[in-house]
Amino acid sequence: MLSYQHAFHAGNHADVIKHLCWLGVIKSLKKKEKPFTLYDSHAGAGLYDFTDDLSSKNKEYLSGIASLQDVVAKSSLLNDYVSLCQSFVSKDAYPGSPVISAELKRESDVLHAMELHPGEFAKLESNIAAYASSNAHSHKRDGFEGLIALTPPKPNRGAILIDPPYERANEYEDVVTNVERVLKRWQQAQIVIWYPLLSARSGNKHGASEAMCEKLSELQVPCFKAEMQIAENTHDAGMYGSGVMVLNPAWQLDTQLSEAMLEVTQHMGEQSSSSVTWVNKDN
Ligand SMILES: C[S@@+](CC[C@H](N)C(=O)[O-])C[C@H]1O[C@@H](n2cnc3c(N)ncnc32)[C@H](O)[C@@H]1O
Repeated sequence: MLSYQHAFHAGNHADVIKHLCWLGVIKSLKKKEKPFTLYDSHAGAGLYDFTDDLSSKNKEYLSGIASLQDVVAKSSLLNDYVSLCQSFVSKDAYPGSPVISAELKRESDVLHAMELHPGEFAKLESNIAAYASSNAHSHKRDGFEGLIALTPPKPNRGAILIDPPYERANEYEDVVTNVERVLKRWQQAQIVIWYPLLSARSGNKHGASEAMCEKLSELQVPCFKAEMQIAENTHDAGMYGSGVMVLNPAWQLDTQLSEAMLEVTQHMGEQSSSSVTWVNKDN
């Protein structure tokens, strides 16, 4: 069952933390000249139009990227993110993770963006086509299967974004199983896993992100969690925030993300807060 459509949520608070982190990962990879490969296992459509029926339904971007557009950021990571988004937001659009990767990578760097939903894939293919001359590839395939098939990259440098819709409760377990499989093939892989923070109302998904992070921490790889709450965790809050778990993180990504999120939360309402917590520091 593939019913999730990211257009309903494009540019919301969850995209902000996820894309800030992903941008930080790409920035750090670009510090060396050696080419790298980016993998986006659940890529979505790549580009979203705030004026279409889906995005304009709940207008989630208003409390996300739109609240940051006039910010003069002190954090260089937030400044880069806002600057990148500005050229899209000024046209009522928002760049999804594969377009952010394609925008930021160099000609010699490679992008593999995977998407299984036929409609979303058609959009991804067309949105990525503009970057096709620069090693940006879209694949209509299962993202987890694609990660196993396409890793490790040559040369052995790069990062993975894992951003499933978590429509099915067993997707949390799929993440752990496949991260473990990838690490057996590519020990140094820098892996960013996005997850929702869900209140008790969420039934069998309540606690699933926390359990997933616990299992990922048992893989004994250096990792930290960065989380941003936008509401109080009351029983009926639903998704009250989200986080990213970063395995084998780049040097100083934790500090950069922490500084950026502290600034972001100043614009996301009184109940918002952020944290960065190391889970495994030196293995
Ligand atoms: C949260 S959205 C991705 C958003 C995107 N990463 C971004 O940040 O712009 C998740 C996407 O995963 C796709 N999807 C679901 N199951 C998949 C699978 N097994 N393999 C690849 N894509 C899948 C959905 O169709 C959806 O477009």
